[in-house]
Parts: sequence; structure tokens; C-alpha cells
Amino acid sequence: MKIVKTVAEVRSIVKEWRKEGLTVGLVPTMGYLHEGHQSLIKRAVEENDKVVVSVFVNPTQFGPNEDYEDYPRDIDKDAVLCENTGADLIFNPEPEEMYPEGNCSYINMTRLTDVLCGKTRPIHFKGVCTVCGKLFHIVGPDRAYFGEKDAQQLAVIRRMVKDLNFDLTIVGCPIVREEDGLAKSSRNTYLNEKERVAALVVSKSIFLGREMLEKKAPVEDIKKAMRDLIEKEPLAKIDYVEIVDMDTLLPAETEADTILCAVAVYIGKTRLIDNCIVYFN
Ligand code: PAJ
Repeated sequence: MKIVKTVAEVRSIVKEWRKEGLTVGLVPTMGYLHEGHQSLIKRAVEENDKVVVSVFVNPTQFGPNEDYEDYPRDIDKDAVLCENTGADLIFNPEPEEMYPEGNCSYINMTRLTDVLCGKTRPIHFKGVCTVCGKLFHIVGPDRAYFGEKDAQQLAVIRRMVKDLNFDLTIVGCPIVREEDGLAKSSRNTYLNEKERVAALVVSKSIFLGREMLEKKAPVEDIKKAMRDLIEKEPLAKIDYVEIVDMDTLLPAETEADTILCAVAVYIGKTRLIDNCIVYFN
């Protein structure tokens, strides 16, 4: 497995693979990889001849008061995980490689990015769309793999690919959880011991939401029950509890085909997200 830092190197390696008629999968990440990311890489290895993992903490998707500087990084450990999982190439650029001096072009989506996480993170999805669009152009994969953990991101990327005619398939992969239910996240490392225990209320609220959705309880009752549960935990502060249509991210009734039940909760200073997707048809 190779680690490269420039766009030119990625392009020349992928070009050689293409000459041999091989298929290519891409797994975009910000590194500090865990079993959640690993499940995406595994799936990509199963479905493609060659797999590229990008490891890039993307500055344009972090707001001014967010954790860009503090975001955990460990490329050596990431390389071991990628190699052991069967990836062929890591693309680990510096910010200047991705955003050269004078850069002023962005992909700016509307509507889908104004709701849920977009409300508290107004520039976040502009950065995500821009960097993913660039990665799709640089690598030119047949398939790109995204986790349902970031369900809004998945919906936004699917929409972008459709709207801007990117020629690839987006594959969504299920959430990988800790044994006690907490969704795996690089940001879980920010939690101290007490907060780690308190954080369980996040996944518990999602499990409750799923159970009530499957029983076709009214949406407002479900949201109230989830809020009540979270509010019992003194270290938790709700950002949002929402039940929406998975494709449009607009408020949903339980009759919609695919429903996304999503929460964002501050545990101390750490903002955690979790969700479940329930299919009705
Ligand atoms: P990052 O947070 O590193 O996540 C990379 C991918 O791993 C995302 O598609 C995310 O949904 C998936 N993932 C993270 N935790 C997971 C879990 N517990 N189970 C399943 N999948 C999980 O998301 C980003 O990076 C960035 O926004 C990125 C798309 C790379 C653009 O910069």
C-alpha cells in the first residue's frame, strides 16, 4: 500500500489501474480511523479491484469556533488500519494541495444543507460538498463509500452527485457502534469518563425513536419521548431531535417511505450525532 500527498500522484496511479481495466472504490475520511471507517473500507475492498482511502482533515468544513486545530490525527496508525483492511492507496494531502493559493471555487448546495446540522453549522456542508466533489474529480472512482452515521451528509452527497452529474455510485453503509450502543466517532476521544457514560443517552434516544417509529407512533409523540429521555441526563444539551424524510430532509410523517430519525446532542462541550433510518416500503 502506498501513501501519496499530491493530486498528480493519485491521478497517475489510478490511470495505470484504469489501463488494466480495474474498478476503483473511494473512501473519503478525515482520519483517526476506527471500526466505523474500517467497515466502509472493507465494503469497498469487497466491491472494487482497487481502493483509495483519502485522509484529510478538511479545513473548509469547520466553522471558526469549531475543532479544526484539535481534531485528532494519527496517519501512522491510519496507514496500518488501511493496509490491514486491504486498501491500495492513501491520499493524504496538505491543505495547500487541496486549496492552492488563491482558491475561490466552492460547491454550494441549498435547502438540504439548511436543516438539521446545517442550522448550527452553516458553512459545514459547503466544505463537505467542495472537498468530496474535488476528491471525486481527482480519483474518478466507480463507487464512493459513506457512512449512515452522517446521514445528512449521505443525503447531501447523493443529491450533489445527481444534480451535478458525477459519474459514480454512492454506497451508504450502516452505523458501527460500541458494545454499549454509542456510535463510533473520532470525536468520542474528547469525552471524559463521566461524559462517556452520559453519552449513552444519545444512542438510547435513537433506539427509543426506532421502536416508536416501527410502532407507527405519531411523530410529535416520538420527538417528545426522545427529548424527555435526553433531558433527564444533566450533562446533555439538545441541539436537535428531528424526524424527516431521508431524501428531502423535510419533516416527515410516519407514512413516508424512508424516515430518518436524527439527533445532535452536546455532552459537555462535545457535539455528538446519531440517527436511525427506518424503511416503510
Ligand atoms: P469522517 O468523520 O472521518 O468520516 C468518514 C466516513 O466514515 C463518513 O462517511 C462517515 O459517515 C463514516 N463513519 C464515521 N463513523 C462511522 C460509524 N460509526 N459507522 C459507520 N460509518 C462511520 O465524514 C467525514 O469524515 C468528512 O465529512 C468527509 C466525508 C471525509 C469530507 O471531509
